[in-house]
Amino acid sequence: MNDFANIFGGEPDVTAAARGRVNLLGEHTDYNEGYVLPTAIPQQTEVALRVSKNKLFEIYSANLEQITRFTLEEPPQAHFAQYIYGCIKEAAHYGARIPPLQIHIRSEVPIEVGLSSSAALEVATLRALRQLLHLDIDDVELAKVAQRAEIEYAGVNCGILDQMASSLLEIGSMLFLDTRTLNRELLPLPSRSEILVIDSGVPRSLASSKYNERRAECEEAARRLGIRALRDVTDLRALESLPQPLRRRAHHIVCENARVLHAIQSTSAAEFGQLMNASHESLRDDYEVSITALDRLVALLQTEPSVYGAKLTGAGFGGACVALCRAGEATGVASNVLTKYKKGGHEGLLLVPTAV
Ligand code: GLA
Repeated sequence: MNDFANIFGGEPDVTAAARGRVNLLGEHTDYNEGYVLPTAIPQQTEVALRVSKNKLFEIYSANLEQITRFTLEEPPQAHFAQYIYGCIKEAAHYGARIPPLQIHIRSEVPIEVGLSSSAALEVATLRALRQLLHLDIDDVELAKVAQRAEIEYAGVNCGILDQMASSLLEIGSMLFLDTRTLNRELLPLPSRSEILVIDSGVPRSLASSKYNERRAECEEAARRLGIRALRDVTDLRALESLPQPLRRRAHHIVCENARVLHAIQSTSAAEFGQLMNASHESLRDDYEVSITALDRLVALLQTEPSVYGAKLTGAGFGGACVALCRAGEATGVASNVLTKYKKGGHEGLLLVPTAV
């Protein structure tokens, strides 16, 4: 990475990268020990690092053009650096003495739109640390370390979806993951289809507070039902004893898990798309994590003849939408949809397929 030389002088000891993800089905199911189905996006985050001769850790963010310095005893103030600090602290549990480092990061993964820019940063950082310090951790363990870094040091009580997706996925495949057992399988995308991702242009302002609230509601519903997690509900009638809004929340989780299990039965693109449409409806009405702009964008996508199905992706409350399109037609769909979306007063942005 030439950028590294410009900032720190000389070459990095190691470089690593990790991709963002877009979740196709299985939204908010991971912290209910359920099933998820993400795919990788082309955009990735790159981390280059070198053992420093100074006493301080130094991280340069090429996106923010900002450098931050810290010691292991005192966490950095800058938000982006907290993810890296968390990874370093967690990596230290594997017995390695972590020397002061000079770290250069550059990310193509759009930030704050629900495409796992934080997981990509964590996974890329841990891959670089694993290489530098010869840490004995496999890709699954690495995802778990990344998740702990996010929970403990960035303050988001997230599930394992994003980190497993970033650590295990390859372009062109979907990861079917059982988040309870971590049993998993890489599957091809539905035949003759491609993914389209559009940013709604609306920031995910409420995402973290509402995220933690939804998680608490699910835990409360499971507690009232006397089960370990909502994953364990096998009959929707069991939910009738729950008061609202817990019944609606649990309804989303149970049906969303069923949708993932349906989708992996070699479903056609058309059937897969129907499941995505149903997922969006459920996220909007039962889980209540959508907003008007996302509903509008999804509705515009769904009326395009080349679109099999569309939904919001990630935590919700803004950010991006994902659609499954006929292969080769995603760019044309995006241009139609973005023109109509703009007439409604919003500025959307095509994220996948990428221009290059
Ligand atoms: C965020 C979290 C994930 C998952 C999704 C919703 O991306 O980090 O763990 O819960 O929201 O599906």
